[in-house]
This record gives sequence, C-alpha cells and structure tokens, in this order.
Amino acid sequence: MRTIYLWFRQRPLRFLGGALVSITLALMVALTILDIATGMPNPYSGVITYLILPPFLILGLVLVPLDAWIQRRRRAAGKPEPIALDLGDPSVKRVATFFLSSGALVLVSLTVAAYKGVEYMDTKSFCGEVCHKVMIPEFTAYQASSHASVPCVDCHIGPGAPWMVKSKLSGLRQVWHYAKGDYHRPLPTPVVDLRPSRDTCENCHTVDRFYGSRLRTTITYDTDEKNSKHILSMLMHVGSGGVAGSGIHGHMASQIDYLPATPDLKEIAWLRVRRPDGSVQEFVNSEKKDALPQLRAQVKVRRMDCIDCHNRAAHEFRTFKQLVDESLTKQRIDPTLPFIKKQAMEAVGEDTEPPSEALQQQVLTRISSIVEFYRKNYPDVAAKRSGDLDRSVRAIADAYKASHFPHMKVNAATYTNWRSHDGCWRCHGAMEAATPGKRTEVSQDCNLCHTDQREGEPQ
Ligand code: HEC
Ligand code: HEC
Ligand code: HEC
Ligand code: HEC
Ligand code: HEC
Repeated sequence: MRTIYLWFRQRPLRFLGGALVSITLALMVALTILDIATGMPNPYSGVITYLILPPFLILGLVLVPLDAWIQRRRRAAGKPEPIALDLGDPSVKRVATFFLSSGALVLVSLTVAAYKGVEYMDTKSFCGEVCHKVMIPEFTAYQASSHASVPCVDCHIGPGAPWMVKSKLSGLRQVWHYAKGDYHRPLPTPVVDLRPSRDTCENCHTVDRFYGSRLRTTITYDTDEKNSKHILSMLMHVGSGGVAGSGIHGHMASQIDYLPATPDLKEIAWLRVRRPDGSVQEFVNSEKKDALPQLRAQVKVRRMDCIDCHNRAAHEFRTFKQLVDESLTKQRIDPTLPFIKKQAMEAVGEDTEPPSEALQQQVLTRISSIVEFYRKNYPDVAAKRSGDLDRSVRAIADAYKASHFPHMKVNAATYTNWRSHDGCWRCHGAMEAATPGKRTEVSQDCNLCHTDQREGEPQ
C-alpha cells in the first residue's frame, strides 16, 4: 500500500497522464459503442466524443513524455531513482486490481447515466415543456402536426457537433433572457441561423422522388341549423423537386437566390434563378427597385429552400374556425347537434388580436355555457344527448385553447404560413424580369399552381 502511495506521490505527472489517457479513451469508446448500439447518432454525444474529450486525451499524451523528460533531468542532476512498483508483490497486485475494476465500473455507469441524461435533453417533452415553457404554442401546434414524432432537434439542430455547439451557445443566451423574463412575446421569426433544409428536412424527405399532382381537400361547415357541410377539392401541381418546370417543387431543381426587403421576409426585392439548363435570369419587385442598392449593402442574399414555403411544417397555427371545422369532420364536435358551429363561433366572437388571460377566461366561460342554449331552445337534445353535448363543448374549448396563447401573445394570425397565397404572392405577381430570358414575370396565373377546383365530394 505504502509503495503505491509513494509511487503516485513521486510520479504524479505520469499518473495523471496515464489516468487521463485511459479515462478519455474508455469514455470515447463507450460513447461510440452506445451511438452504434442505439442506431441513432446523437448530436450531444458527438460533442463530448469529438470536441470535449480529445483535448484531455492530448493533454494526457503530453504529460507522460513530460514526466519521462523530468525523470531524465533528475537522473542527470544525480537525484535518486524514484521508487518502482513491483506487480509481483501480492498486496500491490490486490490493490491495483481493486482500483482498476472499480474504476472501470464507475466509468461505465457514469457513461450510461450521462448518455441517458443527454438523450433526455433531446426529447420533445424536455424541449417543449420542461425547459421551454415559452414554447408551449409551438409545442401545441407541433403535437397536432405530421411531425409530432420527429424530435425538435432533428429540425432545429440536425446532425453534427458544430451546429450543436452553436445552438447550445444561443440556448444559453435564451436561458439568461428567460430567467430575467425579458424574452420576446411572441417569439420572433424567422429563426435566425436556422440550418438550411438540406441538412434537416432533406435527411427524411427527397422531393425529387415524388412527382405529379396531389388532391387537396378542405371541408368546411356553415352556421345554419344543420351545420351544412362543404367539400372543396383541387389538384395541387406539386411536381418534382428534380425537374424544373414540373410544378411547385420545380423551385428545388433550380437555384433561386433572393434579397429580402424586410427582416421578417414578408417582402422580397430581387431574385435570381439558375435553371438546370444553365440559363440565368434576374427578376425585380417593381415597388422595391429604388431601395435595391441600399438593400444589397445591408442584407444577405438567401437561397430559397423548403422552409421558404414550409415554414410552419411543425408549427402550423390554425384559426379557431379551421379547428372547429376539423373537429366537426373528426366528429369530436357532433355535427348532428343543431347550430353547434354557430354556437361555437358566437361564443368566441370578434377574434383578431391575441386575447389577454382575462379575456381568454371569459371566452372559456361562454363556451361552457353553450349547454344553456340547448336547455332553453332544444330541451330534448339537452336531456337525451347530454353526453354528446358535453363532449362537443369540451372539443370547442380545446379548439380555442389550441389557437390562442395569451402568455406569449400568440394567435393563429401571429405567424404567416408561406405555403399559401401570402407566401407565393411575395414573388408571384410581384416580380418582373430584370434581365432577358425565358420569362417576362413570375406568373400569378390561376392554373399555374392548382386546377380542377370543385365543390362536392372529390371524384
Ligand atoms: C419538422 C421540423 C421541425 C420540428 C420537428 C420542430 N420545429 Fe420548431 N420550427 C421549425 C421551422 C421550419 C420553424 C420556423 C423557422 C422560420 O420561420 O424561420 C420553427 C420555429 C420554431 C420556433 C420559433 C417561433 C415560431 O413559432 O416560429 C420555436 C420556439 C420552435 N420552432 C420550437 C420547437 C420545439 C419546442 C419543437 C419540439 C417540440 C420543435 N420546434 C420542432 C421546424 C421544426
Ligand atoms: C426525422 C424525419 C423528418 C424530418 C427531419 C422532417 N420531416 Fe417532414 N415528415 C416526416 C414524416 C414522418 C411525415 C409524415 C408523413 C405522413 O404522415 O405520411 C412528414 C410530413 C411532411 C409534410 C407533409 C405533411 C404536412 O404537414 O404538410 C411536409 C410538407 C413536410 N414533412 C415537410 C418537412 C420540412 C419542411 C422539414 C424541415 C423543416 C421536415 N419535413 C423535416 C419526417 C420528417
Ligand atoms: C422567392 C420567390 C418565390 C416564391 C416565394 C415562390 N415562388 Fe414560385 N417561382 C419563382 C420563380 C422565380 C419561378 C420561375 C422559375 C423559372 O423561371 O425557372 C417560379 C415558378 C413557379 C412555378 C412554375 C414551375 C416552373 O418552374 O415553371 C410554380 C408552380 C410555382 N412557382 C409555385 C409556387 C408556389 C405554390 C409558391 C408559394 C407556396 C411559390 N411558388 C412561391 C419564385 C418564387
Ligand atoms: C415553392 C414552395 C415550396 C417549396 C420550396 C417546397 N414545397 Fe413542398 N409543397 C409545397 C406545396 C404548395 C405543397 C402542396 C400542399 C398541399 O397539398 O396543400 C407541397 C407539398 C409537399 C409535401 C407533401 C406531398 C404529398 O404528396 O403529400 C412534402 C412532403 C413536401 N412538400 C416537402 C418539401 C420539402 C422537403 C421541400 C424542400 C426540399 C419542399 N417541400 C419545398 C410548396 C413548396
Ligand atoms: C403561385 C402559386 C399559386 C397561384 C398562382 C394561385 N394559387 Fe391559389 N393556392 C395556392 C396554394 C399553395 C394554396 C393552398 C393554400 C393552403 O394549403 O392553405 C392555394 C389555395 C387556393 C384556394 C383555396 C383556399 C382555401 O381556403 O381552401 C383557392 C380558392 C385559390 N387558391 C384560388 C386561386 C385563384 C383564384 C388564383 C388566381 C388568381 C390562384 N389561386 C392562384 C397557390 C397558388
């Protein structure tokens, strides 16, 4: 025992160096195996394995020769040889075995614990609920989206250590503002420095793989006694991301760079198309021509990608009316209850600005008293179908809560969805050719993006 103590005391650098090398190596191997075993490379473990551990490994590798060099100088100066360990000595061997095996055990458990902790930080409940109460609106819309099972980090960080570090640094800044309570309400978009979609969306979607048109169906209900149903269907010319001119996704086959006229991207001043056939053409927004030189000096050109249309892919806030229509279709609100749509719309009333907390409470109270309307005007319905009525009233309240977030000053109108006329009209109908070429304008022709608009059941 004493021999080991002396050996450590006399050769602290060698000990430290050796320990650093073996610990970092063990951690790196363990993390790599875990990543492979779970089949899903994790951005946080990437940071530990590739950014944090290597400097320690290098430090360890430097310390060992440094120790040898110091020993050589000691010998040259005529100092006595340091003590040597004799592994043949049974007591030394016992202690060494104990240290090694318990050390290994601690290491493995620490690794697993750290990994699990880090994995948890990646889950949607951590991002959307625990840490980021301010993101409840985004979390609510996300849970109702097609991406409800896609982890937030798959779009907001994506694979690779550098982006992870970048996002955690900006995360730290956000935590600071959160603690001080001076964060923006609503949270600002566009998200500055959101990663280009080729590193996030396109890990799952390849738009050159599908082509042709897609039937879009919208179901709405009138406010009459029967809650009359309307079906509007039309063919969206989605096309292929691999073939320019094939339709909407044709933008992805060309390279389109544009100059925003405002930081919120609501207006676009200039754009340039590079088509796959090699031709290049520029277009300009006639109302912004004069501001162009100044904009060029101040604003960065942006390459158009998926997010210029699908900016609300995971966070589409629908209006109360749209959510009520959807609940009627899904029969969460019973469409056979007379005037139920009208009752829902009247309970909410004027609905343009995000409500205050007090106003939200008043509206919810009005929604729960919809039952009174049936007691008075349809006593039969109120008596025999109270189950259907309660269920429907709950669904109406849910629709209201899913489209109004007083705490963050968010309602369905706060964030514009670019995958709509509002988004397309920034270029289509606004841009004329600035250089000669294939087109004289970016067209707003009603048959460019969709055709076959019709009422009634789709054929
Ligand atoms: C399918 C990809 C995707 C997923 C999954 C996703 N987001 Fe987003 N998120 C986006 C895009 C795209 C934007 C808008 C970027 C823009 O307009 O610049 C955005 C914007 C945001 C914003 C900024 C405010 C706003 O509403 O525009 C917040 C906050 C946010 N997301 C939080 C989350 C949280 C929390 C999760 C997980 C519960 C999540 N996101 C999951 C793609 C995603
Ligand atoms: C981890 C994989 C993954 C990532 C990353 C991802 N998606 Fe998706 N996306 C899906 C899945 C799964 C669906 C649902 C398909 C279905 O329901 O048929 C989907 C559906 C969609 C749809 C069609 C449904 C709708 O909501 O309109 C669009 C558009 C879409 N994604 C765009 C995007 C965009 C834009 C991004 C990047 C901001 C993105 N996706 C990132 C997996 C992903
Ligand atoms: C940043 C500007 C911009 C926005 C925003 C934009 N487009 Fe375009 N779009 C263009 C340009 C430029 C062309 C012409 C490309 C060419 O000449 O090769 C085009 C062409 C098209 C075409 C014809 C396909 C082709 O290549 O001939 C369709 C369809 C289309 N856009 C649909 C849409 C839809 C739908 C939206 C909104 C969801 C939209 N675009 C938003 C710039 C834009
Ligand atoms: C110019 C705007 C625009 C761009 C850019 C764009 N999309 Fe789309 N995308 C649309 C529109 C519009 C639809 C049809 C939506 C509908 O049917 O209501 C659509 C449909 C889709 C769908 C559903 C297709 C189906 O048949 O179900 C997916 C998935 C999708 N886009 C993914 C992407 C991805 C990934 C990118 C980037 C590589 C991208 N889109 C780029 C406008 C765009
Ligand atoms: C640049 C492409 C583009 C052009 C041009 C275009 N639309 Fe659209 N339109 C869209 C997109 C994208 C949607 C789907 C919006 C959504 O999914 O919410 C849409 C949806 C619609 C809807 C359905 C709205 C609803 O609430 O269901 C109608 C009606 C419509 N367009 C009419 C027109 C008319 C009329 C014109 C000619 C002035 C026109 N569109 C030109 C892209 C276009």
